Amino acid sequence: MRIHVADHPLIAHKLTTLRDQQTDSPTFRRLADELVTLLAYEATRDVRVSPVEIVTPVAPTTGVRLAAPKPLVVPILRAGLGMLDGMVRLLPTAEVGFLGMVRDEGTLTPSTYATRMPDDLSGRQCYVLDPMLATGGTLIAAVNLLASRGAEDVTAICLLAAPEGIAAMEKALGDSSVPVTVVTAAIDERLNEHGYIVPGLGDAGDRLYGVA
Ligand code: URA
Repeated sequence: MRIHVADHPLIAHKLTTLRDQQTDSPTFRRLADELVTLLAYEATRDVRVSPVEIVTPVAPTTGVRLAAPKPLVVPILRAGLGMLDGMVRLLPTAEVGFLGMVRDEGTLTPSTYATRMPDDLSGRQCYVLDPMLATGGTLIAAVNLLASRGAEDVTAICLLAAPEGIAAMEKALGDSSVPVTVVTAAIDERLNEHGYIVPGLGDAGDRLYGVA
């Protein structure tokens, strides 16, 4: 598994405001959206393209266009939905699938309550959106599902990651049939006893959607 921490002063600046408990929900949403677009730029570094001939006003030339089949973007509901606009801004022709997963706050185990995506993902590059890589349970389940449907590779885009979640993913997906990459704005210190990332930013879904 590859981990890419997007090390950039603008990302660090926006992330700091996102973390701040004083930041209100509209600002949080806007910053999350901007951060995702910056992370998407890094995450799509290996998106497949194919050559295309075009003619500029001056001369014919060869360029590239995104190759078929289209990439699939999969936000994990609920909080991943707040990352969708920022992602499709860079990949407007991507197809979007949905994965509804919730974690039991006692056991921290995820369960899937909704799946809307093509059955056959052969040859598809998949981009999973989940703001917080905490225990890793949700992303491990998501990657396994995409791999079982034939995804070619999976890139998870997370605003923040915990070392425990990265270790869990490495352990569970080390032998995965698909290459997995995690792109994140930062790797934080640890998880607390409630499974929250420390220092983190709190509950990403609650902060995105204004739930107290
Ligand atoms: N989910 C969140 O929203 N925040 C955390 O810190 C961990 C999981």
